[in-house]
Amino acid sequence: QAIHGYREIEKSHWSKQSESVLQRLRDVAFPPGVPQLSMVHVLDLEKTGFIKAHVDSVKFCGDTIAGLCLLSGCVMRLLSEDSDVDQVDLLLQRHTAYILRGEARYRFSHQILPDEQSFFGGEKVPRGRRISIICRNLPNEPGSGPD
Ligand code: OGA
Ligand code: MN
Repeated sequence: QAIHGYREIEKSHWSKQSESVLQRLRDVAFPPGVPQLSMVHVLDLEKTGFIKAHVDSVKFCGDTIAGLCLLSGCVMRLLSEDSDVDQVDLLLQRHTAYILRGEARYRFSHQILPDEQSFFGGEKVPRGRRISIICRNLPNEPGSGPD
């Protein structure tokens, strides 16, 4: 398992206000008509929690991962699957929305650094409890596309 120090739920019913925030995220992340998972993933990482490098399962998740980073900022590190020197750190400040697709979805793993390693451009990015809200689309059904 990639995630340490967490609780999680999958949630499908939201308040009107939350629903409209989620809809804005979905509208920028997914083109109209793209089948999305109806359940939104809510991940609650404790202050000492972190996520090790992984690529989301291509069996359960489609080509786009859209997240909201709440309560605490963090550093998300993308690491090339092909070379161990090719990496990029993303500063996800509290209230940041991010989208992983294309190379970032498939050719790079992603991870959320633990507090001890949480630096961006030499500056500490202090980690507190962090809640992420993650929308995903469905994998392409094999044989459902053209030809
Ligand atoms: C995951 C994941 C990222 C985040 O749950 O697979 O990578 O922003 N989460 O919490
Ligand atoms: Mn992931």
